Amino acid sequence: MSDETLSNLLSEDRRFPPPADLASSANVTQATYDEAAADPEAFWAKQAGIVTWGTEPTQTLDWSNAPFAKWFADGTLNAAYNACDRHVEAGNGDRVAFHFEGEPGDSRSITYAELTTEVKKAANALLELGVKTGDRVAIYMPMIPEAAIAMLACARIGAPHTVVFGGFSADALASRITDCGCEVVITADGGYRKGKASSLKPAVDQALKQCPDVRNVLVVKRTGQDTEMTEGRDLWWADFVGKQAQEHTPENFPAEHPLYIMYTSGSTGKPKGILHTTGGYLVGTAYTHWATFDLKPDSDVFWTAADIGWVTGHSYLVYGPLVNGTTSVMYEGTPETPHQGRWWEIIQKYKVSILYCAPTAIRTFMKWGSDIPAKFDLSSLRVLGSVGEPINPEAYVWYRENIGGDKTPVVDTWWQTETGMHMITPMPGVTSGKPGAAMTPFPGVSIDVVNDEGQPVGNGEGGYLVITKPWPAMLRTLWGDDQRYVDTYWSRFQGLYFAGDGAKKDSDGDLWLLGRVDDVMNVSGHRMSTTEIESALVSHPKVAESAVVGATDDTTGQAIVAFVILRSEAGDGGPDVVKELRQHVSNEIGPIARPRQIMIVEELPKTRSGKIMRRLLRDIAENRELGDVTTLQDSTVMDLIKTNLTSAP
Ligand code: WT7
Repeated sequence: MSDETLSNLLSEDRRFPPPADLASSANVTQATYDEAAADPEAFWAKQAGIVTWGTEPTQTLDWSNAPFAKWFADGTLNAAYNACDRHVEAGNGDRVAFHFEGEPGDSRSITYAELTTEVKKAANALLELGVKTGDRVAIYMPMIPEAAIAMLACARIGAPHTVVFGGFSADALASRITDCGCEVVITADGGYRKGKASSLKPAVDQALKQCPDVRNVLVVKRTGQDTEMTEGRDLWWADFVGKQAQEHTPENFPAEHPLYIMYTSGSTGKPKGILHTTGGYLVGTAYTHWATFDLKPDSDVFWTAADIGWVTGHSYLVYGPLVNGTTSVMYEGTPETPHQGRWWEIIQKYKVSILYCAPTAIRTFMKWGSDIPAKFDLSSLRVLGSVGEPINPEAYVWYRENIGGDKTPVVDTWWQTETGMHMITPMPGVTSGKPGAAMTPFPGVSIDVVNDEGQPVGNGEGGYLVITKPWPAMLRTLWGDDQRYVDTYWSRFQGLYFAGDGAKKDSDGDLWLLGRVDDVMNVSGHRMSTTEIESALVSHPKVAESAVVGATDDTTGQAIVAFVILRSEAGDGGPDVVKELRQHVSNEIGPIARPRQIMIVEELPKTRSGKIMRRLLRDIAENRELGDVTTLQDSTVMDLIKTNLTSAP
């Protein structure tokens, strides 16, 4: 972010205090902050009561083997029991867990009693397939209730799941299955997106050519499209889960039993398998869900408009909300199908009271125009959430005014796949919100901004965002790679968790997030590594070298721009080379990684030590005057690139 944008942001002086009625009955008050600040560990020990334990923990944090944390280590519990059965036992079996809205317009409401039965049957199905406690199961699904049921069935028998976003390619799926050693995959024939059936099963078939250890594939029939089934390996969910017994007694596992692995992009090519465990994660997600959104489980209708394939779906569509006994909306499709008011129609239909989505969606709605939401009754909304990337003040104010009727607080929640739960956010009943600021650490969470030497910066200054104390839902390690866990997060600054984000404290000490400081891009709230995309490009036979940068984009936050040098034997690459390379990246990683723009160049700007100067490429990608070129090995390279670009189509 440029200094100019930054000073514009910090001169933002609009304030939105909490609505009086919300504040007077808010779940979290100033007293909550005070209590947490006095003794964070005691605070979390108290919040552990939000879940039902088999054995109550007597320990809170064990940091003796830092940075490998244990939380509530002598407690035992079952995640699926907490998300399902206990609500039925408490007399809330008839409460709706999910209002599912399919893209074609089909809908289904599933109560806690029904969800519990389905999860028990699916757990029995996995057991029949020989899945044992500790075995990993891959899930590659569209946004349908069976995705959540599959996750909970795994959790119920202590088999960590790894959900792979349905938009990822066969190769990306294969590498995750292999890294985790999965032997069972749960998928669907396809799902509905943009008005048509989009297949998933063929990608699984393709992936499994590289994964000989997978014994079984359980396939949900969603679209009914023609689907090849491999005899002896593939089973239809409706038949195989359908015939299972409705009874299953959940076993309590130790709090530190692995719950799931979620792959995310780091600053190197290989995705990292973030490991979350059971007790601390459930306490952290359930408590933050209840606090940040001021959740009243008896009356709220909550909607996280994010895919289950990302951590937001895990923490705030599945685990947090279900542990809290929430009624949630789950929507399968895209916001413009069949019309641009689809989200607002859903909010009107189910009287959604809390909406949680990404700034990229908000900016898209802004572009479509405020007359669209104005046609719907959105008066049920009382809290709005934002997640995944910095929300610019214009988008924040538009969201509040046009969706929130100029009365709802907007909570801008900063967190990561690694943190599992909200870490910086306003509280709707306490904080006077500043448009664009994530504001203050969550109660019981310790955050700071430090300079290159690891020293805290003062108010009005910027630096690196760090987390200074362990928190319950923190990642425990990277799957199979403890050393990379230590190196990535705990080695930059002694004793501090390095988040990879830049941040600034304003004159009040409130926090503003400024984007990544590493080679990670944020495209529509999805994390992409520049190196990962560069590797995909270089794997194409026509490509010699490539450099990828994230350029500012009005809608997607950042957009992927690639500079490519072709191999000499490829000549000029042919007329369709750019198209071919964009498609290649899509095949290798997935459509979300397809570059917005590919520029074919003769040279890349490098320092004398051979490091590509992405800063200069970003200047070009964003049509800016070039910055300092004096450290370039050959300063004429940039002229060459620019001349070539103007002559390119
Ligand atoms: C990165 C984490 C959080 C779940 C979805 C993304 C960026 C996330 C915010 C926010 C500014 C944000 C950060 C972070 N980010 N939320 N409210 N304001 N930036 O999870 O894929 O692990 O990405 O997303 O850069 O490091 P993720």
